[in-house]
Amino acid sequence: MLLLRGAIEVVTPPATSLPLAGEAMDKIERHPNTDILIDGDKIVDIGKNLSSDGADVIDVSGKVIMPGFVDPHTHLVWSGSREHELEWKLKGRTYQEILADGGGILRTVKETRKSDEEQLQQESLIRFKNAIKHGSTTIEIKSGYGLEKETEIKQLKVANWLGSLGLAETVITFMGAHAIPEGIDRRSYILEVIDMLSDVRELADFCDVFCEEGAFTVDESRKVLEAAMKQGFGLKIHADEFGDTGGGRLASELGVMSADHLAGSTTETITALRDSGTIGVLLPGTPFAILSDHFAPARKMIANNLPIALATDCNPNCYTESMQLVQQLAVFRMNMTPAEALVASTINSAFAIGKTDRGCIAKGWRADLIICDIPDYRHLTYHFGKNHVDSVIIGGRIIDA
Ligand code: NIG
Ligand code: FE
Repeated sequence: MLLLRGAIEVVTPPATSLPLAGEAMDKIERHPNTDILIDGDKIVDIGKNLSSDGADVIDVSGKVIMPGFVDPHTHLVWSGSREHELEWKLKGRTYQEILADGGGILRTVKETRKSDEEQLQQESLIRFKNAIKHGSTTIEIKSGYGLEKETEIKQLKVANWLGSLGLAETVITFMGAHAIPEGIDRRSYILEVIDMLSDVRELADFCDVFCEEGAFTVDESRKVLEAAMKQGFGLKIHADEFGDTGGGRLASELGVMSADHLAGSTTETITALRDSGTIGVLLPGTPFAILSDHFAPARKMIANNLPIALATDCNPNCYTESMQLVQQLAVFRMNMTPAEALVASTINSAFAIGKTDRGCIAKGWRADLIICDIPDYRHLTYHFGKNHVDSVIIGGRIIDA
């Protein structure tokens, strides 16, 4: 048993079995001067002056406790880096132009293919630990820098290995349909991706497709996702990153678990996603990293009751592991409130990867918590550019990442 004693406040979304939408996203609970009792990997009590019989006591006076962040969209297993592309972006080259010239994703594919599994583990572990240090306690990880069976499997194995270390939990996504690799025509590659599904079924929970101009069309995305659905994968999609190109509408037709990016989605697409029970995962680090002002219309989504989650998108184009930075961008650039940003980074982001036991501090929920060195939870976004996480508890254990 573990007793966290004397937090200034314990801040949490309300316990719910459905993602929060609309005005409910702004209604978090704040419990002043509160203790939390943990037994094994579960929260068993929260309240004032809890007794500590036999429990290890941690003094958290002066600290704020909130649920650990769930990052529901990362590409954090890759090799190499792309700092030179930032200079190209500053000179006006767009993300899609860089990709069309064999840079971007295709550049990272070349570097990831070259690395052996151990090197890929070591590069990825540094980022994984950094994510945890910044408060992420469950992390989704995609493949998609192999674009051939062998390297996709290598990436998925590394992602599974990260999840086996007893640090953060992982949810794994196969994303063979991330780009069309060089040297193969698109029809053949799509067949190859569909063929890979059975080889990676044991290694991944979800299947994702980059549905966008310059990547996969709506029809191609539908083919891959329908094949994945038949094999029992959960579905995700990268959609409407630059404009409403039909990806969001495809997501609503297929009833995917989450549609991610959505910066260009129209109001009709937003309401279709809401009606199909899809969660919108917003990735404000991405427009930030491509020097764009085109952030997802979060206020419109909240006004239309689409439940939204936030994620880092951690990748060599948008290189951050920090869910704190993402919440700051959500507040400063998408006009979300600090409470909405927290809900979108905890309970709603857990639902976006199919987890219903975390993201909330209440009796019976998983003890995934962060202890923050701030006087009031709103300082998490108000005071930007500093890591506020003092310690991280995952499954009831203090994790020293
Ligand atoms: O979500 N858009 C596609 N995939 C990633 C970027 C990956 C990369 O540029 O390496 C994204 O933005
Ligand atoms: Fe992504």
